[in-house]
Amino acid sequence: MLGPRFTDVRRFDELDSTNRYLVDEARTGVPEGLVAVADHQSAGRGRLGRRWEAPAGSSLLVSVLLRPDLLSGQRHLATAAVALAAADAATDAGIELWVKWPNDLVVADGRKVAGVLAEAELDGASGAPGVRPAVVVGIGINVNWPATDTDLPGDLVGAATSLRQQLGHPVDREALLSAFLAHLEPRVAGLSEPDGRLCLHAELRSRCITIGADVHVQLPGTAFEGTAVELTPEGHLVVNDHGRLRTVVAGDVVHLRPSSRFVPPGPGRPPPQE
Ligand code: BTN
Repeated sequence: MLGPRFTDVRRFDELDSTNRYLVDEARTGVPEGLVAVADHQSAGRGRLGRRWEAPAGSSLLVSVLLRPDLLSGQRHLATAAVALAAADAATDAGIELWVKWPNDLVVADGRKVAGVLAEAELDGASGAPGVRPAVVVGIGINVNWPATDTDLPGDLVGAATSLRQQLGHPVDREALLSAFLAHLEPRVAGLSEPDGRLCLHAELRSRCITIGADVHVQLPGTAFEGTAVELTPEGHLVVNDHGRLRTVVAGDVVHLRPSSRFVPPGPGRPPPQE
């Protein structure tokens, strides 16, 4: 069941980008809750200026317009709300997903099922009296593509998968969308409350497959390696770089060795540790 926020769901067979559409709508002062869904995007946006591509009708490509009462440094929590709602929708469909910091949803072996992209609207209506700045959060979920690894370009084999590939049967995108929006509703309400933000942080922490992993962190113009040890209350990643704790606000993270928290116990392997 949809909550009070996400009642205006605009559907498109084809759009350049659902994020672009909602950022433009945000500039006109549209209130929180507008949703855009596309069957296909001709210029889907990914992180760090990359493209997000998926065959028509195969994925859930959806963006939501939010106006949470957040400081700009807390915006990562809006991304987390969307990622966690999508993870719950996937659980409903029968598959467990984890958050790979900053904003990927992956299966336990690290293959990516979904990516989240948040874009702030800082011009236009945001800043007008009584209008909170907008943040548009979009997610692309590989639902029915790839069906098998043979559908993937070579560079994505072993790096990407889909709900269908994991479950062994097609997944209804409409049911997934409804579940996603229902799970998003209380989290968006929580974004604007201190207690809600604490809950989101705790939830993110428990779903974050990056904590405990050895990571390579790529920052603009520099890089370092260390062990991811914690998430700050704002959702930023704390990495132990040879004894020096460094907080990563934005960056690309590659897992070099998986977290022991998420390695399933097997013969000769110690049980997972907190
Ligand atoms: C990433 O992993 O790089 C983030 C990908 C985000 C893709 C989604 S699809 C729906 C929304 N519209 C866009 O143009 N991008 C996001």
